Amino acid sequence: MKKSFLCIFVLLALVSCGGKGSDKCQAGDDPARAANFDRSYPIVDSLLRVMTLEEKVGQLVLYTSDWDVTGPSIRDGYVDDIRAGRCGNIFNAYTAAYTRQLQEIAVNETRLGIPLLFGYDVIHGFRTIFPINLGISASWDPALIEESARVAAREAAAAGLHWTYSPMCDICVEPRWGRISEGAGEDAFLGSAVAAAMVHGYQGTDLENPLTIAACVKHFAAYGAPHAGRDYNTVDMSERWLREFYLPPYKAAVDAGAQTVMASFNELDGTPATANAHLLTGILRNEWGFDGFVVSDYTGIMEMINHGTSADLEDASIQALNAGNDMDMQSGGYSEFLKKAVEDGRVSRKTLDEAVRRVLTVKARLGLFEDPYKYCSEEREAAETLTQENRIAARTLAEESCVLLKNDFNILPLDKRSRVAVIGPLANSADDLLGTWRGAGRVEDTRSILDAITECAGQVVYAQGCDVEKAGQAGFRQAENAVRGAHAAVVILGEPCSWSGEAASRTSIKLPGEQTELLRCIAGTGVPVVLVLLNGRPLDISEEAALADAVLEAWYPGTMGAEAVARLLFGDAEPGGRLSVTFPRNLGQVPIYYYAKNTGRPYVHPDAKYESRYLDCENTPLFPFGYGLTYTTFSYGKAELSSGSFGPGGSLTAKVTVTNTGSREGTEVVQLYLRDMVGSVTRPLKMLRGFERITLAPGESRDVTFEITPGDLAFWRKDMTFGCEAGEFRLFVGGNSSVEEYVTFTYNE
Ligand code: BGC
Repeated sequence: MKKSFLCIFVLLALVSCGGKGSDKCQAGDDPARAANFDRSYPIVDSLLRVMTLEEKVGQLVLYTSDWDVTGPSIRDGYVDDIRAGRCGNIFNAYTAAYTRQLQEIAVNETRLGIPLLFGYDVIHGFRTIFPINLGISASWDPALIEESARVAAREAAAAGLHWTYSPMCDICVEPRWGRISEGAGEDAFLGSAVAAAMVHGYQGTDLENPLTIAACVKHFAAYGAPHAGRDYNTVDMSERWLREFYLPPYKAAVDAGAQTVMASFNELDGTPATANAHLLTGILRNEWGFDGFVVSDYTGIMEMINHGTSADLEDASIQALNAGNDMDMQSGGYSEFLKKAVEDGRVSRKTLDEAVRRVLTVKARLGLFEDPYKYCSEEREAAETLTQENRIAARTLAEESCVLLKNDFNILPLDKRSRVAVIGPLANSADDLLGTWRGAGRVEDTRSILDAITECAGQVVYAQGCDVEKAGQAGFRQAENAVRGAHAAVVILGEPCSWSGEAASRTSIKLPGEQTELLRCIAGTGVPVVLVLLNGRPLDISEEAALADAVLEAWYPGTMGAEAVARLLFGDAEPGGRLSVTFPRNLGQVPIYYYAKNTGRPYVHPDAKYESRYLDCENTPLFPFGYGLTYTTFSYGKAELSSGSFGPGGSLTAKVTVTNTGSREGTEVVQLYLRDMVGSVTRPLKMLRGFERITLAPGESRDVTFEITPGDLAFWRKDMTFGCEAGEFRLFVGGNSSVEEYVTFTYNE
């Protein structure tokens, strides 16, 4: 009886569902936005007309399954909740078979048969794991990043998932914070390019296509700036700083068509983001025109009690919904209190209906009302997962993500015939290569770097040397012995991967345990040392970089990371990465980022006392943003401008000739920075405004051009309007953010 009612209902609704509407989609005008964004879905209206209050509230509830738990456990019985219509969305449940099983309950055993939405943290791959996101961003290759998200979407969608909690768009200049590993680094311009690429990769141009999944822009907003780098801690910054340096990547993802946004755990200006109407309604919906739904972070609503802005869960739930937070992840407050809150007028029916409409619209855009099981195909799951093609994509991105920080005497690449000593506590770990938030990734799909090197090199000896965390030098002697007689020592050090990601803040950014001592001991043998680093944050490696002859920053490089590192070490591939985050000389320099301002007393005179400087350390970083070496060298000609000035509606072109001056083919990331010399408010010393990856043969030159438009000069002016100001600008083009040569142009109003 129930089932036939459902079928008739859905059929009736679908009959009226084909037409194109016109009232949706204000957000951005990205050409790659999914075709079905502009449709209106009469089924949503039909449902809203017949849904009871309880059924509406149920659509705003998201619970985790018991398969994988990514936060505190607060309730059992999610299957009963689905059956009773109390829960319309599930996360941490996947596989075609299991999602079908749960979907059948929602579709066949609830009155209206509204399909479930299945979400999961598909962060840097689903089963085929790509490098961690900080590594991915170091590729400066939006096309390949988009491809990685497409691969992740295909695998996730084949396992029954509709929705990923990615991209993470939190700008971060705080290496103590473990979640710096999940973002695209310190810069809003690069971060925006990465965010948009990931949304395009996940969502494609047709969300109904069962190979695509909905993206979730997180964590909105400014979660990456917790005081002292302690996770979940207070965030406070000026509205101007927020808008200029933190919001652009979220906006880029929204403009690219992201269907959902996750509110962050932190407070901002005294209000938890979870119930921050300025962020969730003012900026996100009213200014940016976002028309998808907002989900809280895990127990974010409940946590407003701890923040001290809500007396209890009821109060928190009402505040959150009224502020624009549509879906409750895991707090249970909407489920318990919203019905009554609507009945007694503390939440309006309109507010509730709008939130439900947004959730149902995303389900409709995914095509779930037409076929709730379209993502549950076991054949597709078997065919799409961990394919050779996916593995190659992961290996290529891993190669492009690794950053060569030092290579004295061109010690790299190594000769395959050489005798190599592989040393270090992370050399024989396959597990750490996957990083955190590894989705459905499995250790058995990957290999250790030791295994991969053993396959490449003529002769390999191995010694662990020490533990990654614990003190103890008992293994040093064996390591030294292994190194003697070798042509090179490859020393693989870093942090255990569990030291990155959520709830993984540190007060030191040095290598843990006695790894530095081990490196000193190996360097003392006189054998050339190649240091390979596995870590998820900028580390203070001042000492280690001095001890080693070559340093390769490999992050946590994913399923194919071992092969990628071995191919890089032996020259089958070249390190393609450039830092997306500044590496400080020590923690005392933090926060250190390339877009610093000049100050009233810039440090210019070497011995001056009253200038902005440290007594005990240089101002410059160890490695600047944008930095990375290759196995060849490049030279830059002087930038030529098409004109010395331009004005509103105009543009100018900057052209620079880049030459490969070395003897191997190589890839350069050509970077363009601008400086606004005088503004109504202070301006950064440099702002990245363009970049391009180019591969050149030995001796080859290429002209690289960048177009500068008024949009590249715009900023939040004194009166908090966004736009340009007339005046002089400097334009820098080079291989990293420390480039000093510039040409000038003027912008005329
Ligand atoms: C994290 C989010 C994640 C969510 C669901 C939270 O603890 O902050 O990034 O998406 O859990 O797993």
